Amino acid sequence: MNDLMIEASDVVKAFGAQKALDGVSIAVPKGTVLGLLGHNGAGKTTLVNVLTTMLPPDRGTATVGGFDVVTQAHQVRSRIGLTGQFAAVDESLSGLDNLVLIARLLGASTREAKVRGTELLELFDLADAAKRPSRTYSGGMRRRLDLAASLVGHPEVIFLDEPTTGLDPAGRLGLWEVVEGLVTDGTTVLLTTQYLDEADRLADSITVLAQGRVVASGTSAELKAQVGQRTVTVTLADASDLPKAQGALERAGMQPVPALNTLTAPVTSSRELAVVVRALDEVGLEATELALGEPTLDDVYLTLAAHAA
Ligand SMILES: Nc1ncnc2c1ncn2[C@@H]1O[C@H](COP(=O)(O)OP(=O)(O)O)[C@@H](O)[C@H]1O
Ligand SMILES: [Mg+2]
Repeated sequence: MNDLMIEASDVVKAFGAQKALDGVSIAVPKGTVLGLLGHNGAGKTTLVNVLTTMLPPDRGTATVGGFDVVTQAHQVRSRIGLTGQFAAVDESLSGLDNLVLIARLLGASTREAKVRGTELLELFDLADAAKRPSRTYSGGMRRRLDLAASLVGHPEVIFLDEPTTGLDPAGRLGLWEVVEGLVTDGTTVLLTTQYLDEADRLADSITVLAQGRVVASGTSAELKAQVGQRTVTVTLADASDLPKAQGALERAGMQPVPALNTLTAPVTSSRELAVVVRALDEVGLEATELALGEPTLDDVYLTLAAHAA
């Protein structure tokens, strides 16, 4: 048995002359989170639309739960939950009635639908607002209701298209916790985001999309190791020694950038720490602190996505 829950192979989708997806391949094992990272217009929503059977690919193939998104669209649809970038709840209905309606459409009895709706409202901390029209909900509450709506049918795979865009920090954190809970229960998640911290926190593996192409993929640590730049930061006791220390490091072949009482320089290996110590020693200085900085996902994103754009 294949344990990939989502697989896309060389998917191409164009809108007129605009190639939204230009040969995209991804593979998401069951029970994991793939973070699809990319700027506006990178092709994230188009890929989600292809995978959720809403848009046929021009070329290439994709499967969800082992079913082909084109020829077995019905089987795919019965296994997925989709939360769009824009909340899709009926504003005139209460939170509970929205969920009950969806459950009924999916074939539940009135009683089952109420049980499921109530359970989800509790999970998403919306029980107190269950009977209020959803138009009175805050942005964060709406987003949670939208996510709850996508979970009514106990989907094996959920697609979250920029689920936290526009949410306040507390709303984002709440949503992250819900996603983590779903994954613990074995759900597979494809999440698109423009936020690095979100991908870093939630994603088991990250694919960076730029102009319809995959420009990098791997775990957060792999991506950082691949393109990130490590740095060494030297802290001096006396800021007036900065020019002297800077000169010493430059003579040792480094490119230090001064700040308040520190110098930061790119390094390729931790062995260069010894070079720093020796260079400072030669001019009679000593660092009060030497720190090796690891690259961040921001470095990766800036390097890759900006480069491609
Ligand atoms: N229905 C459409 N008609 C024409 N162009 C589209 C359509 N949907 C998306 N595009 C174009 O395809 C590219 C990718 O869009 P999209 O998948 O929405 O990116 P993202 O979700 O990463 O912001 C963009 O250049 C966008 O303008
Ligand atoms: Mg989008």
